[in-house]
Amino acid sequence: MFVFLVLLEVARKHNFNEPISMNHLIITAHPSENSFSNYLSQSIYEFHKNKAWTVTVRDLYKIEFNPVLSPNDLKMMKLGQTPFDIQREQNYLSAADLITVIYPLWWAGFPAILKGYIDRVLTNGFAFRYTENGPVPLMKGQQVILHTTMGNTVEEYEAKGLIEAFRRSQGDEIFGYCGMEVIDHLFYPQITLADENRRNHFLEMALEAYQPVQTSRLF
Ligand SMILES: Cc1cc2nc3c(=O)[nH]c(=O)nc-3n(C[C@H](O)[C@H](O)[C@H](O)COP(=O)(O)O)c2cc1C
Repeated sequence: MFVFLVLLEVARKHNFNEPISMNHLIITAHPSENSFSNYLSQSIYEFHKNKAWTVTVRDLYKIEFNPVLSPNDLKMMKLGQTPFDIQREQNYLSAADLITVIYPLWWAGFPAILKGYIDRVLTNGFAFRYTENGPVPLMKGQQVILHTTMGNTVEEYEAKGLIEAFRRSQGDEIFGYCGMEVIDHLFYPQITLADENRRNHFLEMALEAYQPVQTSRLF
């Protein structure tokens, strides 16, 4: 009887009967409305909205995010003052349990607007802190999924060891460095040639990547 009561209390505390509520932030960085990146962003948004998650999309082109870390930004932050547009994006990040980042691969890296977002928003003091014993991550407990669309094949990049390099440099060394758990990093090859069947297959792949996120929140 006692064990049953304890289990009941644990279930009550963790709302096991309630749908799991997540705060999901989607950051997307493609200039074309009809790009696969924006199609992915919209589909992932709707998929999680239907699960009654709180979902916010920050389309860096639509919000005209300024990607240039300026002398004034550095001066203000040195004085302990965060520029308004950086603070606003940091607030979105702080509120998120899960962060999705969607972008096309441009010259084997991020589009400049996304690189600039990372430079300006994941700041020392917000995302991580330097100490005498090395850097300390400040964004623990948050989860990230990255989606990279590309023109080339995965095989071409794998032959050069670059898929692993992209995972490390674009995922682990940025979001992982800040303490976030990189759940998955998906690549969508030859996306400009993909027909409807292939796009649907990619979309299925994209949504499946969220399975571990949903279950891990139960425990
Ligand atoms: C400036 C620029 C640089 C690009 N560099 C690469 C690259 O390094 N590797 C690659 O596979 N594709 C590259 N591409 C192709 C894009 O990744 C591809 O067009 C994009 O993923 C299409 O995205 P979408 O399906 O979201 O429209 C580049 C495209 C542009 C415009």
